[in-house]
Amino acid sequence: MNTLWLPLLLSSVIWAEEQYFPQSPNATWDEARLYCQSCFKELTTITSRNIHLIVNNLSVDYWVGLRKSYNGSFPWAAWSNGDPVTYQNWYPGHPVPNKEKKLIPICSSTTQSPLTTPMSTPMSTLKQTTTVASAPMTSTISQNFTSNDTCPILADMLLCLNMTCYDLESAMSVCMGTPPVTHNTTTYSPTPETTTFSTTFTATTHGTTTDSTTASNCIFEPEPDPEQYIEDACVVLLSFGMWKEENCNKSLPFVCYDERFFGQIYVSDVNTSAANVSWTEGPGAENISHYRVEITKGKNQTFNLTFYQTFNQTDLFEHIQDLTAGTLYTVQVFPVKCGRDLNPQNISFYTKPSDVQNLTVVKIEKDFAILSWTEPEGNYHFYSIHVKCKSNDSFADKDQKCQSENCTIVNLIPGYEYEFTVKAVVNETIGGVPSNISDYTKPSTVMNLQQSKEKYSTFINASWDAPEGGHSGYRYCLKKVDHKFKCDNCNIITNSSITVSDSNSTANYNITDCTEQKARTIFIDVGNKSDGTEFCLCVAALTKNGNLSGDPVAIPAYTSPKKVILNLSPDYQSMNASWEIQGKYERFNVSIITDAYAYNKSADTKELNYIFTDLKAGVYYTVSVVTVTGDLTSDAATCSDYTRPAKPDWVKSTVHKTTIELSWGAPNSSGDAVINYNVKYNTTFWNTSTEINTNKTKLSIPNLRPGTRYDFNVSVVAGNLSSDPATNYTHTDPEKRKLVLIMLCSSEKAFHCNKTETRNDLFEKLNNAFTDRFHDWVHWNLRWADRRP
Ligand SMILES: *[C@@H]1O[C@H](CO)[C@@H](O)[C@H](O)[C@H]1NC(C)=O
Ligand SMILES: *[C@@H]1O[C@H](CO)[C@@H](O)[C@H](O)[C@H]1NC(C)=O
Ligand SMILES: *[C@@H]1O[C@H](CO)[C@@H](O)[C@H](O)[C@H]1NC(C)=O
Ligand SMILES: *[C@@H]1O[C@H](CO)[C@@H](O)[C@H](O)[C@H]1NC(C)=O
Ligand SMILES: *[C@@H]1O[C@H](CO)[C@@H](O)[C@H](O)[C@H]1NC(C)=O
Ligand SMILES: *[C@@H]1O[C@H](CO)[C@@H](O)[C@H](O)[C@H]1NC(C)=O
Ligand SMILES: *[C@@H]1O[C@H](CO)[C@@H](O)[C@H](O)[C@H]1NC(C)=O
Ligand SMILES: *[C@@H]1O[C@H](CO)[C@@H](O)[C@H](O)[C@H]1NC(C)=O
Ligand SMILES: *[C@@H]1O[C@H](CO)[C@@H](O)[C@H](O)[C@H]1NC(C)=O
Ligand SMILES: *[C@@H]1O[C@H](CO)[C@@H](O)[C@H](O)[C@H]1NC(C)=O
Ligand SMILES: *[C@@H]1O[C@H](CO)[C@@H](O)[C@H](O)[C@H]1NC(C)=O
Ligand SMILES: *[C@@H]1O[C@H](CO)[C@@H](O)[C@H](O)[C@H]1NC(C)=O
Repeated sequence: MNTLWLPLLLSSVIWAEEQYFPQSPNATWDEARLYCQSCFKELTTITSRNIHLIVNNLSVDYWVGLRKSYNGSFPWAAWSNGDPVTYQNWYPGHPVPNKEKKLIPICSSTTQSPLTTPMSTPMSTLKQTTTVASAPMTSTISQNFTSNDTCPILADMLLCLNMTCYDLESAMSVCMGTPPVTHNTTTYSPTPETTTFSTTFTATTHGTTTDSTTASNCIFEPEPDPEQYIEDACVVLLSFGMWKEENCNKSLPFVCYDERFFGQIYVSDVNTSAANVSWTEGPGAENISHYRVEITKGKNQTFNLTFYQTFNQTDLFEHIQDLTAGTLYTVQVFPVKCGRDLNPQNISFYTKPSDVQNLTVVKIEKDFAILSWTEPEGNYHFYSIHVKCKSNDSFADKDQKCQSENCTIVNLIPGYEYEFTVKAVVNETIGGVPSNISDYTKPSTVMNLQQSKEKYSTFINASWDAPEGGHSGYRYCLKKVDHKFKCDNCNIITNSSITVSDSNSTANYNITDCTEQKARTIFIDVGNKSDGTEFCLCVAALTKNGNLSGDPVAIPAYTSPKKVILNLSPDYQSMNASWEIQGKYERFNVSIITDAYAYNKSADTKELNYIFTDLKAGVYYTVSVVTVTGDLTSDAATCSDYTRPAKPDWVKSTVHKTTIELSWGAPNSSGDAVINYNVKYNTTFWNTSTEINTNKTKLSIPNLRPGTRYDFNVSVVAGNLSSDPATNYTHTDPEKRKLVLIMLCSSEKAFHCNKTETRNDLFEKLNNAFTDRFHDWVHWNLRWADRRP
């Protein structure tokens, strides 16, 4: 797409505003023009636009800037300022045309006075002026009227008028407008020949026709008088607005015009007490005698600083001094030309307000600051405070408006350095000389201050989180306090002195020994003898390189009491706990617990031992001892052991073939506690032995050898100890086999073998031998077998 670029010719069209100045001293047209040119712009031109303005307040006739010809130019073609003549308002019959020296007599046979008509002024009535057109009498003053040859009729006229030619010429010069002659009627009064003129002037003055009063014998000739042609003619503006030409040498008032002057004025280098004002040169600078500078202070009150100060035209500036700070000044510069003030150039400005005095920070806290100062010299409307965080660029600067001399700045961030710049302001935006002051906001409190979960008996270990806002480090103070002291408050007395107080207690502690550091944890060795001791710990954040402290936070902190060295000596139904300790203690809290049955017990003692009674035999117990000092407790020292085991109450067995069901009763002293048993069974015959551990009170033992005696020992086991066993035995059912022994008897005595006694004796001996060998360890039975076929 093509774009057509049209060059634009910008021309500023300035419609000058014209002003009109009627001038009362009489002058010839040339003099008048010269004067207008030097003190104004020109003799006025007249257009349809300005005619009513000019005529409005005219009382007499005035020269205006139109001349028939300037050095032979085309007649009536241009105004004196060069403008073309676009408007004309001639009185009827004017300008009187030039009849080119034709001296054609128009005298009729009668005598008349043709010279009266040129004397007519525009004030004459229309009746008189109707004759003008038919009176082409022209000015022929240069003619020699004395020649009868040239103008015989003139001679007749002179005769008729009873005038000499000299008289005529003299009268004609009156017509030509030579001032001293023109209006001096008395000049002609003494002369009888001038009677006619005298009366004519009278008539002129009053604006009435005087035909009837003419004493001449030509009065019967009413021929109209021709207007006189004026060669060097200039336009005179009649008071009612019409034009007539006049001889340029005539002295008349005149009207000048000027264009209203619009200049530029500038003010620069404004400070609290001075300013430079400069302006553009006025028009027609050579005629400007000086510039008058008028300075007004404030809105209405006038203040003569350099009232009517004048200085020479080459100086287009003024250095104004001794002004009041923060005040509105209006400067008017009038170019003075021919004693006339041209349109002034105006400018207003405020001097800068001066600086506020004795700016101080009255109070500065975590998030606000109160500033105070005294009023500046001079005037101001309000104050503006610029707040800049010097420690941290990421916070935007702020501005605050204040009406009075002390002002609270809010929404500050704790622990940072701020610069406050105070300026007095006028007219909303014009700030004066700044005064500034810097200070630090108090740091905020540290957060989450707490002692570590794990307690030490000779160290305090604590940590905290950084405070909101800025900080350069921390100060902590640690003080040993009484038990029950709550450590509610820390109060700063001086940089290194703090009091700690408890809301419920009248006591408070001074801490004069504090430490500064950058880290957020502490691990303080409080000494070997400090177990079970309570402390107050106060921590405050610091800023201003450690010179400004925030509010401290207090917590109680303590070392734990030391643990005891515990020793247990168990019995069947009691346990003796005894211990040693190498630190401070107030009392001990002892407790016992077991899993074997629902039981626990605790007690306090100040002794170094404790006997737990009513325990159950063979049970595993855990004993704890906690050292207590005030509210503080140590970690528990624990020790576990079994009470001594007691013998089971009874043992019973039932046999089912080769399976034995064994059951036993818990010892009375063990009650229903779950305890451990050791079951041991053996066979003497087979020489086997088996052990089973259980915490039940019965046992089924299968797959035993048949026909064998089993011996059972059941004992309670407690750790390494075992109780005495409860015993029992039983036989499993036998699987019988027959074994036949044939005994051969030979004896010296006949029939001895057949004797019953012998047989019984043998059986006795055999039985004894088997019994010695097997006892009841295994099933056997011996008897006589029947040997009959
Ligand atoms: C100027 O001339 C007029 C008549 O044309 C006359 O009335 C007036 O008094 C004169 N003023 C001065 C100051 O001579
Ligand atoms: C006019 O007349 C006088 C005598 O009356 C004479 O001296 C003079 O030369 C004449 N002038 C002319 C131009 O004729
Ligand atoms: C002009 O005429 C008059 C009378 O007609 C006469 O008295 C006079 O002498 C003449 N003058 C000349 C110069 O001819
Ligand atoms: C003309 O004027 C002379 C004196 O200048 C006088 O004596 C004479 O009477 C006058 N003639 C007439 C007709 O007025
Ligand atoms: C008229 O002229 C006479 C003598 O020339 C003089 O005394 C008188 O003051 C004049 N009057 C005026 C109004 O100029
Ligand atoms: C200044 O004075 C004018 C007229 O006396 C008054 O109308 C205007 O209110 C005044 N302004 C101030 C600002 O006092
Ligand atoms: C200012 O100066 C003018 C004339 O110079 C004087 O009339 C006026 O009293 C002065 N005003 C003050 C307030 O001085
Ligand atoms: C300026 O010059 C004029 C004469 O040209 C003199 O009258 C006037 O006193 C001068 N003004 C100053 C302020 O010098
Ligand atoms: C005062 O402030 C207004 C609004 O900002 C401005 O237009 C005016 O020029 C100022 N006045 C001065 C003397 O600076
Ligand atoms: C400002 O402080 C100075 C001393 O620093 C004191 O002399 C002066 O009086 C104070 N000014 C005010 C207005 O308080
Ligand atoms: C401001 O300061 C003045 C004097 O120093 C005091 O009278 C006034 O109470 C203060 N105002 C505030 C709001 O602090
Ligand atoms: C303060 O003492 C009162 C009564 O003596 C008690 O009720 C309250 O709990 C105590 N407060 C603290 C913080 O110890």
